[in-house]
Amino acid sequence: MSFPQSFKAAIVPEPKAQNVISDRTLAPLSDDEIVIEISATAVNPVDWKMRDYNAFITQYPAVLGSDAAGRVVAVGPAVSEFAIGDRVFFQGIIGTYDSSTFQQYCKMPASLVAKTPDNISDEQAAGISLATMAAVTAFYDKEGYGLIPPWEEEGMEAGGGHAIVILGGASSVGQYAIQLARLSGFEKIITNASAANFDQLYKLGAHVVLDRHQADAGSFAAAVQETPLMFVFDAISAKATQLLGVQILQATKTANSHVVTVHTVHPETVDQEAVALGQSHEPKVGIKQVLGVGSAPYLRYLSEPLTKNLGGYIAKEQFIPNRPRLVPGGLAAVEEALSLNKRGVSGEKVVFCPSLK
Ligand SMILES: NC(=O)c1ccc[n+]([C@@H]2O[C@H](COP(=O)([O-])OP(=O)(O)OC[C@H]3O[C@@H](n4cnc5c(N)ncnc54)[C@H](OP(=O)(O)O)[C@@H]3O)[C@@H](O)[C@H]2O)c1
Repeated sequence: MSFPQSFKAAIVPEPKAQNVISDRTLAPLSDDEIVIEISATAVNPVDWKMRDYNAFITQYPAVLGSDAAGRVVAVGPAVSEFAIGDRVFFQGIIGTYDSSTFQQYCKMPASLVAKTPDNISDEQAAGISLATMAAVTAFYDKEGYGLIPPWEEEGMEAGGGHAIVILGGASSVGQYAIQLARLSGFEKIITNASAANFDQLYKLGAHVVLDRHQADAGSFAAAVQETPLMFVFDAISAKATQLLGVQILQATKTANSHVVTVHTVHPETVDQEAVALGQSHEPKVGIKQVLGVGSAPYLRYLSEPLTKNLGGYIAKEQFIPNRPRLVPGGLAAVEEALSLNKRGVSGEKVVFCPSLK
């Protein structure tokens, strides 16, 4: 298998502009890289936020997209673990356009790419990596909660005897967080969502799912009961959910803990009202924020073993991808797919297929 010198890419020509389909080429392959023909790419909120708020983009024309699946078409001389034709999925690299995914081909360091197990499609595989890495960073990195990850010794018992609250269980990040909490051995996983998503979240491993339109901190405290709460993971990280996270830790009198949030690009800071509430009385509750960029050197100690282990969890159905919602039309579907995610999805991952001719 080989790949063409020139291929189609969705390009943002200037700040805040719509994507146009244009021709692109890749820089020469480094020894430790592979080239991937992208069969499916997922849309994450970061994609339209980067464009709409001109965030994380240092150079135009820009190529967006950092979550995809495909097939290996070329392998650098130092790569031994991949062969041409292998099915793979990966988190692309934000701001490195040769490793962006709204295009037909990209190249990636092989150590950041996972093999796709036979029991899932490329459309399913495309939406796993980015949101999983956000939850992995929140749970296992010291910037988040600092638990032992499940692939390390004793990692599968790290949550033993404890409860965890995950706000926004139906979101993409939330669904993967529930499954990581299960892999980490939490005794009680409590989350919230709209009623239509309850069954799915119980299937993924939640023990209690509360109605997100009704449940307050008291409802969460009642669900926690006597099980010691370890921490709150806020997969949504809006002002209202940060406040709720702080209130839950205070209502359950959980000392020496904090709310872990994800960076939401815009607004980019931890909510100051929630911070003040957390410091207003005992037990004092802090808020920490993570950014799950697996290619960052300081997160490679998590992202590299994650790519080696994730396929195994999926093959054993211990980890289930978000439900894909395919937007037909190949690469030309890029703007429709971005708007669909921006308008709001419920328990689904928007996907399109850049290489479809
Ligand atoms: N820092 C990072 O590394 C990182 C990585 C990925 C995402 N993010 C950020 O994390 C956020 C979530 O991203 P995503 O892709 O997971 O989102 P998503 O899948 O688009 O989220 C949609 C879901 O959010 C739920 N939801 C919305 N508001 C809620 C609330 N107030 N309480 C509880 N649930 C609520 C909805 O649940 P129902 O349908 O059940 O109502 C819906 O299913 C975004 O702001 C994104 O930018 C950060």
